[in-house]
Amino acid sequence: MDFFNTHVASEAFEAVRATLESTRLSEGVRVKAFEAALAEQAGLVRPAAVNSGTTALHLALVVAGVGPGDEVILPAQTFIATGLVVLMCGAKPVFADIDPTTGNLSPAGFAAAITARTKAVLPVHWGGLPCDMDEINAIAAQHGIAVCEDAAHAIGATYRGRSVGSLSRFTAFSFQAIKHVTTGDGGAIACTDQRDAQEVFRRRWFGIDRASSPMSELGEREYDLADVGYKYHLNDYCAALGLANLGDLPQRLARRRAIASEFDSAFADIPGLRLHARPHDRVSAYWLYGMRVERRLDFVRALRDRGVPSSVCHLRIDANAVFGGPFDLPHTAEFDATQINLPVHEALTAADTQRIVDAVRAGW
Ligand SMILES: Cc1ncc(COP(=O)(O)O)c(C=O)c1O
Repeated sequence: MDFFNTHVASEAFEAVRATLESTRLSEGVRVKAFEAALAEQAGLVRPAAVNSGTTALHLALVVAGVGPGDEVILPAQTFIATGLVVLMCGAKPVFADIDPTTGNLSPAGFAAAITARTKAVLPVHWGGLPCDMDEINAIAAQHGIAVCEDAAHAIGATYRGRSVGSLSRFTAFSFQAIKHVTTGDGGAIACTDQRDAQEVFRRRWFGIDRASSPMSELGEREYDLADVGYKYHLNDYCAALGLANLGDLPQRLARRRAIASEFDSAFADIPGLRLHARPHDRVSAYWLYGMRVERRLDFVRALRDRGVPSSVCHLRIDANAVFGGPFDLPHTAEFDATQINLPVHEALTAADTQRIVDAVRAGW
């Protein structure tokens, strides 16, 4: 049994082969089709496909105007990429505390970390559960702070009936190999503001706006760049894979949710184990099935001996030397010391999930 699953839809083989055969490999019609499908099938607003979740986050911060002298607030409970993109902009990462029952940035933690220099906030939907986005967006609006959700774990999640990817000024997604929808590596940025989207599309390809850069008679586009652009676009054979993998996303999300609900019932009454909170106004994409346990290393070893993998997935990132922590974040410290995740992906069979239930219920 694997902890994560890489899903390659059967339709993907033919789709990628046809793209290779066409020899149109770079960004083209398939990227456009993938973007249209992300909007239609996953509810992303004005999605721009890029070549990783990290570049999606970085480009969103660039378009938000984050630069040297600015501060960007983020939780420490995330993957290192969320913090690195702030440093890539020359800005200062400011780590804020989380809700220990979910692992998500709390509105109170966010508010407490705001200074006159705060330019942006990166709420991370830990494991796929949406953060308290109405509260976070309201605080951000009061202070003129740009909100860029890190939805690397959360495609297909909903919050108060709305899709993640439609809630905030920017939302960044990852299509890396073990994410719900993979393009091998890839990502997307959704923008609620039309002008931001235009900037994202322009700056993902060197900053050259193809529509207003005609080919000259000498055979090169005519342009005069006024700012830095990036080589962040997705290519067509990755998009062909992503498009095929989007097809059965609703069924795969439903399977993940069914497994999570099986686990919720099976683990409701186990001493030394606390399930994460399940707010009724949002639906997780269940990239992770997380909980907090006592004597975590004993738990991991006992499950491993019973053939069940478990993982912290990511430990707090502020303790890395590049960020200068660990900082004083009491809820983060508690979560970091006790959180653990079980397999929850669509490739698990009924026998697998029963084995997981039995392995946990047997104790540690
Ligand atoms: C929370 C979070 N943010 C950002 C990223 C970066 O995504 P990518 O690997 O596609 O660059 C990841 C990657 O796993 C992640 O878990």
